Amino acid sequence: MSAMAPEISIDTNILLVGCGNMGRALLSGWLTRGVDHKRIRAVDLEAGAIGSAQSLNVFASTELSKVLEEFDVDLVVFAVKPQNLEALLPAYRGLADGGAIFLSVAAGKPISFYEDILGKGVVFVRAMPNMPAAIHQGITALCPNPNVQFNQRKLVGDVMTAIGEIVWLEKEVMMDAVTAVSGSGPAYVFLFIEGLTEAGIKVGLEEKLARRLAKATVAGAGAYAMQAESGAAELRKQVTSPGGTTAAALEVLMGEDAFNALLKKAVQAATDRGQELR
Ligand SMILES: NC(=O)c1ccc[n+]([C@@H]2O[C@H](COP(=O)([O-])OP(=O)(O)OC[C@H]3O[C@@H](n4cnc5c(N)ncnc54)[C@H](OP(=O)(O)O)[C@@H]3O)[C@@H](O)[C@H]2O)c1
Repeated sequence: MSAMAPEISIDTNILLVGCGNMGRALLSGWLTRGVDHKRIRAVDLEAGAIGSAQSLNVFASTELSKVLEEFDVDLVVFAVKPQNLEALLPAYRGLADGGAIFLSVAAGKPISFYEDILGKGVVFVRAMPNMPAAIHQGITALCPNPNVQFNQRKLVGDVMTAIGEIVWLEKEVMMDAVTAVSGSGPAYVFLFIEGLTEAGIKVGLEEKLARRLAKATVAGAGAYAMQAESGAAELRKQVTSPGGTTAAALEVLMGEDAFNALLKKAVQAATDRGQELR
């Protein structure tokens, strides 16, 4: 989603818990898309994180009680590391009992983990964003628990479109696979840029030029693929003349046990690791 994306109208008070990388991406997305700064409050343990929320005109504190003063929370968004959740969740039980909606972007933790602490009646959505959220071009997979009503689902969807596209998953079991594809995916693309840069240097380019060519090629091809009507395989065929230079490279990349086979292995490894970490 680009800076041209339409404003979102959210008539909702949001409490952001954790103002690190992902929390800041969310904050800036909400504010850029027109959410009133008075409708957002943030809590974080770190002075730097508090400062960055305050610099965006958002009330922030290390103390939850202060943040909750004269603020009726409709939606709580957890953007803390998974290992911090167990200790912090009990303090939010009162908000859950009061009917607030909860959303968490923490990787790995299943919905049942939150329900065990916040109560079975909690209205909860598990989310998996990815790093381009920082420039509002992420994609976030969302999975609701059975307590989430249609209008609450709409609201959560609107809130998360502030950092890019959204997709809804009906089965939580898909989260490990989604994490392996889009959550971890930016790292694979960065590796591809690294590799293309190194390969460019090997065939005689200066490093700076090779890096520039590799980055711009990945960004341009990605943007082209996003707006094209054809699928990726069709686009690949369109830019490959029989017997030409691209065909020569693809013969290597598409060989047995080559690029796609490796990617399948990599995504399987990430999916398996997600299951182990649960
Ligand atoms: N970054 C990504 O690309 C990405 C992608 C997908 C999902 N996620 C998920 O997003 C979550 C946040 O990741 P991140 O990269 O933003 O982490 P981060 O930069 O470490 O930010 C987390 C922030 O939460 C604060 N915090 C810790 N305990 C807290 C508490 N009890 N109350 C309030 N704030 C607390 C941390 O403070 P301290 O530093 O003092 O602990 C830190 O400032 C993770 O669960 C991760 O799995 C991130």
